Amino acid sequence: MEESMSGLKRTCRCAELSTENVGQTVTVMGWVQKSRNKGGIVFVDLRDRSGIIQLIFEENQVGAEGFAKAAKLRSEFVVAVTGEVTRRSGAVNENLKTGEIEVVANDIRILSESDTPPFPVEENSKTRDEVRLKYRYLDLRRPDLQRNLLLRSKASLLLHSFFDEEGFLEIETPMLNKSTPEGARDYLVPSRVHQGSFYALPQSPQLLKQLLMCSGCDRYFQIAKCFRDEDLRADRQPEFTQIDMELSFADMDEVIEVNERLLKKLFALIDVDVPVPLPRMTWQEAMDRFGSDKPDTRFGMELQDVTDVVRSCGFGVFTGAIEAGGSVRGINAKGQGAMPRKKIDKLVDFARDFGAKGLAYLSINEDGTYKSSFAKFLTEEELEQLVQAMAGEAGDLLLFAADKNKVVWDVLGNLRLELARQMELLDKNEYKFLWVTEFPLLEYSEELGRYQAMHHPFTMPMEEDLPYLDSEPGRVRAQAYDIVLNGTEIGGGSIRIHRSDIQEKMFETLGFTKEDAHEQFGFLLDAFRYGVPPHAGLAYGFDRLIMLMAKEDNIREVIAFPKVKDASCLMTQAPGVVAPEQLEELGIEVTAKEEETDK
Ligand code: AMO
Ligand code: AMP
Repeated sequence: MEESMSGLKRTCRCAELSTENVGQTVTVMGWVQKSRNKGGIVFVDLRDRSGIIQLIFEENQVGAEGFAKAAKLRSEFVVAVTGEVTRRSGAVNENLKTGEIEVVANDIRILSESDTPPFPVEENSKTRDEVRLKYRYLDLRRPDLQRNLLLRSKASLLLHSFFDEEGFLEIETPMLNKSTPEGARDYLVPSRVHQGSFYALPQSPQLLKQLLMCSGCDRYFQIAKCFRDEDLRADRQPEFTQIDMELSFADMDEVIEVNERLLKKLFALIDVDVPVPLPRMTWQEAMDRFGSDKPDTRFGMELQDVTDVVRSCGFGVFTGAIEAGGSVRGINAKGQGAMPRKKIDKLVDFARDFGAKGLAYLSINEDGTYKSSFAKFLTEEELEQLVQAMAGEAGDLLLFAADKNKVVWDVLGNLRLELARQMELLDKNEYKFLWVTEFPLLEYSEELGRYQAMHHPFTMPMEEDLPYLDSEPGRVRAQAYDIVLNGTEIGGGSIRIHRSDIQEKMFETLGFTKEDAHEQFGFLLDAFRYGVPPHAGLAYGFDRLIMLMAKEDNIREVIAFPKVKDASCLMTQAPGVVAPEQLEELGIEVTAKEEETDK
């Protein structure tokens, strides 16, 4: 029978007890982690958010009725137990914070019984993700997820006080908006009052925070919910949280300095010292050295451009790519020269997944001879120069890609990461931050047949590149900066355009007609007519940041109720069909329906 608390008060959480409490009478409440009935004694591990305490039930202490209750306890029963804290009679448990003590019960109430849970509630669950997420409320009882939620909460509170100290105002922006083009698809909300019209959930508060600068708010921040209907990955959710900020009269250095102070404070939560100022690197340098605009700088294995070395060699794959305007670059996987052919073939397949036509390799045997897929096309001297350019030594494996720069960067950038994973070079306890600056303002989309904003259309071009906006848009660099941690883009921002002439020009370059631009962004262009301070800002992916701080591999592990790959929630079964009357009210008719599936 389940009992009520009726007047019984909890005195502390389970793992808040220590040897200092020995001799005291306490009342703890929580879930039964496990219970063992050893004849005349029942041992129970009781768990709550704080951790575990061992309880002892003996008939002469807890009475016959109490002992009978203790004897029937099973995992996940919720109980309230009063008893005396004592030093353990048995062996000390080194693995437990409360391992030196136990509570000898003299009263017990069973507050709630439990069916057998679908999986054991314990650290490092081996349970399949689908099951964990279906029973997320049980999953969240596990200590690892409890720790993540605690860290997230502490971080959020710390950010609030940080921003307050730095003179930022927390301002909420609406969820029901007109769409902001941030690159992804919008989540739409139909309007009942304006049938046929839709709100868009914010992909970010970008335009609104800029308007807050026009409003004289000076410095704004928000822990902001954002929604993007895009393919999910380990570091992407359809609904996620940004630490969003905007500053008036600030240049890039000021934004960076504020954020370095922020990161330093935040990482102190996990006892990591962030050595500021953090290194900065231009986008061009990042691509050339790491083949990525979010380089993982925990390890080397940098790309080498060997175009000049092989320009006139006899290997058509190399010279062909160079003649077509591309390049040949390589990476040196130190000490991997003995990699078996089969494993190298896997790397070639991996490279193909990133658009490579092939991957040329050369391993340097311990005796100085080579094993290679292309050495026969090069003279002895050319080979030697190539190996030298790659700083190749006996035992190394050199891998080369020849193609358009974009392909070569992407292939080698990803190969570098794959090799680092295989070579176990990635240490989760190491935190390497990097600012990446001077991004290209625009990138050409073959699909759209026009330029697209690399960041968003409100990013200020670099002054010295302004003249190329008409003639060579691809050459224009942006006053944009990303903050990268261990190969993940944790945040990004820019100096904004605050002049309506440049903003209009930007829309024109992006293929908007004047009418389109005014239809979509008239309010911003109008605002720019009434005195707008130069402003700049940045937004972090809060989930990504906490994921890295918690040393997790997936942002789901730091989100209480995440979605899965197809953007559904396995627990609530969202999204779901709605009643016909609801649709009628909205003036919506569903024409295409997904096949009913067993989710
Ligand atoms: P951006 O689009 O780069 O910039 O987003 C900022 C940061 O948000 C995180 N992020 C995501 N996290 C989880 N799931 C997603 N689907 C997802 N998409 C983005 C990333 C990213 O760095 N308004 C601008 C910021 C600005 O210019 O001030 C913006 O939204 O960590
Ligand atoms: P092939 O002459 O096509 O047999 O290629 C010889 C070697 O060059 C093989 O190891 C291929 O994987 C490699 N290769 C082919 N295309 C490329 C390329 N674009 N970049 C680098 N290596 C390549």
